[in-house]
Amino acid sequence: MSTRPLIPGRTSPPGEFFEGKPRPQAERFPDEYAAFCDGIRALSQIDLLQYKRGQMERRIRSFAQRRGSASLADYLELLRAEPEQLDELLDRMTINVSQLWRNPDQWQVLEREVLPELLAAAPLGRLTAWSAGCSYGAEAYTLAAICRELAGHAGSAASAEITGTDIDRRMVERARRGRFSAEDGRSAPPAQLRRWFEPDADGRGWTAKRELAALTRFEVGDLLRMRPRRATYDLVLCRNTVIYFTEDVRDALHARLVDSLRSGGYLVIGSTERVSNARELGLVPTHPFIYRKV
Ligand SMILES: C[S@@+](CC[C@H](N)C(=O)[O-])C[C@H]1O[C@@H](n2cnc3c(N)ncnc32)[C@H](O)[C@@H]1O
Repeated sequence: MSTRPLIPGRTSPPGEFFEGKPRPQAERFPDEYAAFCDGIRALSQIDLLQYKRGQMERRIRSFAQRRGSASLADYLELLRAEPEQLDELLDRMTINVSQLWRNPDQWQVLEREVLPELLAAAPLGRLTAWSAGCSYGAEAYTLAAICRELAGHAGSAASAEITGTDIDRRMVERARRGRFSAEDGRSAPPAQLRRWFEPDADGRGWTAKRELAALTRFEVGDLLRMRPRRATYDLVLCRNTVIYFTEDVRDALHARLVDSLRSGGYLVIGSTERVSNARELGLVPTHPFIYRKV
């Protein structure tokens, strides 16, 4: 996989070698943090330099201290030696918070206005959707449940193909299992939750029914490197994922997401986020945090 930076003008470290000898680390990287990020990229493919630095660096330094590492270089050595420490760090940094029917108002708009329009226009009534930054799958299964609901009302078989992508392999494995805690279901409409999710015998959680699993698939992928195919999706959900990226990285990602939408398709973002150049991207806002591609 290429690690070419997506942001033009961003400097990459000078060569690792000079006249056949390894360059000292201090010469290769502008600072200790950049050297640490390079090491993490080699270990995990995740390029931390594309995330907002202040907050990310503070968190990493505090983990390093708690693990007894005196410097980021020491911490990197520890992460190289102990993969479980690396898993723990990535767990904390990729912030996987999600829930079923998260931001219920947004789901209501999708259910009442956006999805009926998209399903009516979709070829063979088959909706193609992408949950970009899907975490453990709550967003994708919520969408699947609503598509099933709408199909019920229309008296036809629901048809949707929902892809969830996340950089965190462990989240993708969880998403494939379709298991959710009772807490994950706290904002879900109770009747729909019971209709599409099986309660655990001990009442501690829910498992998505087969009808939902049939509409969803999950993949590991880095949104900052992948090049989704043009005009592929009717609906792209990218909520609560870009908040950690620098503005340039966020804008470039939004442009790629819009490119992956069909004309007439919708982009949904998180309720604390913005698309800074919506009009230039050919987006028209239709509801709060929801845009239609012209
Ligand atoms: C806070 S969760 C949002 C989950 C869901 N979209 C929601 O709103 O409930 C953010 C997810 O983005 C994922 N993520 C962060 N950077 C990513 C990247 N470069 N590529 C793919 N996923 C990424 C994280 O692993 C995390 O699971």
